[in-house]
Amino acid sequence: MNYSQYFNSIVIIITISFLFSCNSGVKKEELKGLKIYADFPIGTAIKINTLLKDTVLQKLQKKNFNSITSASDMKMNSIMPKEGVYSWKIVDSIVNYAQENNQRLFGHNLIWHSSTPNWVQEKASKDSLWLGVFMKEYITNYVTRYKGKVAAWDVVNEGLESHGGEVRKTIWYNAIGKDYIAKAFQYAHEADPEAILFYNDFNIERDTLKLNSTLNMIKELQAKGAPISGLGFQMHIRMDTPDEVIANSLKKAVETGLQIHISELDIIFNKHDDTREGGIQVYENLTEEMRKEQAAKYKNLVKMYKSIVPKEQQYGITFWDFTDRDTWIKGFFNINDWPTIFDENLKPKPAYFSFLEGLKETL
Ligand code: GLA
Repeated sequence: MNYSQYFNSIVIIITISFLFSCNSGVKKEELKGLKIYADFPIGTAIKINTLLKDTVLQKLQKKNFNSITSASDMKMNSIMPKEGVYSWKIVDSIVNYAQENNQRLFGHNLIWHSSTPNWVQEKASKDSLWLGVFMKEYITNYVTRYKGKVAAWDVVNEGLESHGGEVRKTIWYNAIGKDYIAKAFQYAHEADPEAILFYNDFNIERDTLKLNSTLNMIKELQAKGAPISGLGFQMHIRMDTPDEVIANSLKKAVETGLQIHISELDIIFNKHDDTREGGIQVYENLTEEMRKEQAAKYKNLVKMYKSIVPKEQQYGITFWDFTDRDTWIKGFFNINDWPTIFDENLKPKPAYFSFLEGLKETL
């Protein structure tokens, strides 16, 4: 080997080691997971049975998250599918999982029109007074049973119409009146005074009318002394939801002094009209460019949360499903999309790494 061959080999070796070290740097970060880079909880909503039967998914869940929300097992139609029978078993298994893995358990949810069982709706339509009694009994039994185990509850989910500022005319509203919201908070608080109690809704990051109504409702609740302690932004957003609009909404929300939870985060490319099967397939494939744009949006979102929401109001960021394989978006809206931070093969996407960078960056 002459001198120039020797020199070339050294250059090649140095280049390869450099590339390898960059790559393993990324891998190392991925190995450590998201949660260690955040000084607020990072959560995911997931169905407990999906989680328990899939060891790869479980490994990712344990590594990345320190808060867990049950995607469906804690809703009323799952807890009380038939009159008078509470099905606690599945909730007990979520509690065990959260405790064994040292994760915060977020209770989702107590009152939501979409998960109100048919038998409740039928009975309430015949006897509206009964519904008020049932609501008290249900919330009291449920929250008391998991007192000290469930850190926080979405007490009322989606109490306002999808768009604009009207109160949603659910059976709860029709039977009990608008006060059903204040009462639900009261019963939950009496059952577990330590639990953090949230009002949770969607579109409030982008629909100013809806946000204003939400904030007015919160003011009314606070004036009545209702024990509301948090506001959940579901944050099911689209790539074309402007960051400035989200930032303004967060700014207004922090003025309530409440805990602010980004409670169901995902970012889709396609469109929908908020209804089941209401998806519009605009993009057929996910390109490299789209992956990068989505990554930038995830990063902006974390940075907005960190810079706008004061430390003492940061309840955390929770993803709704964390893989493009499991996302609810495809089935619900009947479209193909790629809204999460892990791809269909459970590999981290650019969105994962930029979310992580957003967590790490000092502002
Ligand atoms: C809403 C609800 C959640 C869940 C998601 C998607 O945002 O709050 O409970 O049903 O839709 O599935």
